[in-house]
Amino acid sequence: MEGNFNQISLKSLINFIFLSLLLISAISPSKTSKTPSNIITRFQQYLQINTAHPNPNYTQSSNFILSQAKSLNLESQTLEFVKGKPVIILKWSGKNQNLPSIMLNSHTDVVPAEFHKWVHSPFDAHIDGGGDIYARGSQDMKCVGLQYLEAIRRLKSDGFEPVRTVYVSFVPDEEIGGHDGAEKLAESEAFKKMNVGIVLDEGLASPNENYRIFYAERCPWWLVIKATGAPGHGSKLYDNSAMENLLRSIESVRRFRASQFDVVKAGLKAEGEVISVNMVFLKAGTPSPTGFVMNMQPSEAEAGFDIRIPPNADQKSLEERIAQEWAPSSRNMTFELGQFKQKGSVHDKFGNPAITAADNSNPWWSLLVGAIKKANGKVGKPEIFPASTDARYFRELGLPAIGFSPMANTPILLHDHNEFLNQAEYLRGIEIYESIIAEYASYVEPSPTRDEASRAEL
Ligand SMILES: *[C@@H]1O[C@H](CO)[C@@H](O)[C@H](O)[C@H]1NC(C)=O
Ligand SMILES: *[C@@H]1O[C@H](CO)[C@@H](O)[C@H](O)[C@H]1NC(C)=O
Ligand SMILES: [Zn+2]
Repeated sequence: MEGNFNQISLKSLINFIFLSLLLISAISPSKTSKTPSNIITRFQQYLQINTAHPNPNYTQSSNFILSQAKSLNLESQTLEFVKGKPVIILKWSGKNQNLPSIMLNSHTDVVPAEFHKWVHSPFDAHIDGGGDIYARGSQDMKCVGLQYLEAIRRLKSDGFEPVRTVYVSFVPDEEIGGHDGAEKLAESEAFKKMNVGIVLDEGLASPNENYRIFYAERCPWWLVIKATGAPGHGSKLYDNSAMENLLRSIESVRRFRASQFDVVKAGLKAEGEVISVNMVFLKAGTPSPTGFVMNMQPSEAEAGFDIRIPPNADQKSLEERIAQEWAPSSRNMTFELGQFKQKGSVHDKFGNPAITAADNSNPWWSLLVGAIKKANGKVGKPEIFPASTDARYFRELGLPAIGFSPMANTPILLHDHNEFLNQAEYLRGIEIYESIIAEYASYVEPSPTRDEASRAEL
């Protein structure tokens, strides 16, 4: 017993010394905190916090973010529009408080992971021999949240002083619609007071060397169509059964889907620029103890579709198509458009398409592209995000919002098994943000030149 006890003590003593050394290296100032290993360790720590739905641990993620804020000397504010759903706002005050501020947004939650389908456990943040960091959230989007902070850490240690105020926001629940997170923030008094002029939010990984930049996103409509018809014996051929009615509609939907997909396949439009329609469920049949009754044609049949509409698409004609071709009452069909129909609009509150200008008319766009190039990054063609992000809540206010996650040469693995990001790519992204934040925070709208001013005087 005693021998055993001594052995344990020795082991714990060694552990203690080891941990102390780790601690000393962690708290010793700037020089060591700039080394990549510490940067990667902090990323791993954030990834190891399980913020997967349905039970994201926001207490732990908040504590982590607030501790980072403290180490960076950033002011912090925790807003709880809904209890247990913290929105954290960090503030780096600019020298000119009158200029609109910059908001760097990221969500803290992640989608669930099927542990047994991963080569490395999704919350271990294991780094393999090639430097790939495996974790749920490594791409979507804990990388971005922490890259913002690492970039600020570097700018601060270089003595950079922002002219504009920079806010870094960490919001909950994006993966379940953002209603208790970014949506509430965008509607709040607190947000108005922040006087935000530009929002950066998430983008997607790029399998090639060009970073992807998004200026808008598609709006989801969830459509359920339902057919009814006289039931009948399974052997009987007759018109207008529920199944036949539904199948005719499905064929029509498929023709439309193919017409959109063909344009993408031909390379004429990108994925985000067409209307996507995918059937997500089929519900029909008369249940029996062993499956379905086989000699009976049912009187009802339903199908569900996930539809995504780009902001410049003709919504009205799609609505007509649904009512006249996909679910015509003349064929005893009805339809319902799910929760997003009311919520998600492709327009902002002024009735304009919710699009951020992706050209020189928008200084924030030019500055972003310029800053990426300055840091030796390459950019692809501006794109419409194929799915939804929190950026829509800010675009709906009429604010410019740009989707960007600095991940080049990386397979797109968001929501997939074995999501990973290479550590070199992560570090590269920090340099990119350093360049962007420096440009954004220094930007002062050009005042009229002396020539223009004197002409105005005349
Ligand atoms: C969440 O994290 C906190 C802080 O680390 C911990 O005390 C708590 O047990 C965790 N909650 C759950 C539900 O795991
Ligand atoms: C509509 O439903 C009624 C009642 O089931 C049926 O008699 C009729 O044939 C159906 N019409 C069509 C066009 O499906
Ligand atoms: Zn995301």
